[in-house]
Amino acid sequence: METRGIILAGGSGTRLYPLTAAFSKQLQPVYDKPMIFYPLSTLMMAGIRDVLIISTPSDTPIFEKLLGDGSRYGISISYAVQDEPRGIADAFRVGKDFIGGSSVCLILGDNIFYGKLDFLRDAIRLNTGATIFGYQVHDPERYGVVEISTDGAVLSIEEKPDKPRSNLAIPGLYVYDESVTEIAASLAPGPRGELEITDVHRVYHEQKRLNVQQLGRGIAWLDTGTPESLHDAGTFIHAIEKRQGLKIGCLEEVALHQGFLSPEEYRFSVSLLPHSSYKNYCESLLANI
Ligand code: TTP
Repeated sequence: METRGIILAGGSGTRLYPLTAAFSKQLQPVYDKPMIFYPLSTLMMAGIRDVLIISTPSDTPIFEKLLGDGSRYGISISYAVQDEPRGIADAFRVGKDFIGGSSVCLILGDNIFYGKLDFLRDAIRLNTGATIFGYQVHDPERYGVVEISTDGAVLSIEEKPDKPRSNLAIPGLYVYDESVTEIAASLAPGPRGELEITDVHRVYHEQKRLNVQQLGRGIAWLDTGTPESLHDAGTFIHAIEKRQGLKIGCLEEVALHQGFLSPEEYRFSVSLLPHSSYKNYCESLLANI
């Protein structure tokens, strides 16, 4: 069965208050698009066509309004509600039926990746057990941290440690085999009262089925959880788009590129867009097909 994708787009977003007082973090603009366009495009670029979006009771209908059933991008999007922010690993409980017996790629709705994404395609193709990533940051104590040996074996994983054993943070992008639902079902909430994703990884590690791939500096991993990092992410997207004249995270373009939409279907999807620079951009690509 093909690997399915989950975008976890709930949470409380308290660090972004008052931006998040009325609606969710993942609907905030990152320069010229709602934040969720970026993680959705990441999944699509990895070849995933079946996506579940999990959000809060009040935001889920807004995501539905924004993205519909996915047919305009040649994919299938379904929705599920997480009634309380019970932790990242709760995604595998809420998404149990969606996952069924397939492998799954989970991305957090506030994580933006830019660069050559072959690493994700490869991880999905080659995964046995679970594959997570390690990304060098200057402030690892803010994240889950993984320590690996020179031959890539996992030595330790810790959640937001006071004294990190390495500077490799674990980004919010993970690949699991079908046993993840069973593993998540067996977990109890951690000290924060949440189902911790680190505990899922600990189980895979104990089973000797946890792989870590280190991401190189050619990949940009941006976090958008605070006003400053949200602003920085928008500035980054703006700078690259302006320089290249190409958009990052344009879902119609990604769908065309991936062959999820035929040229005719692309033309139709673009014809439905309201007059905007986004539509102008999509139309400009018609000249090349
Ligand atoms: P966090 O950034 O850890 O939490 P948050 O988004 O609630 O923000 P804050 O700390 O400012 O209150 O969450 C990471 C991502 O996971 C984010 O996209 C929200 C999502 N999430 C859920 O959808 N459900 C949850 O239960 C949790 C904990 C997070």
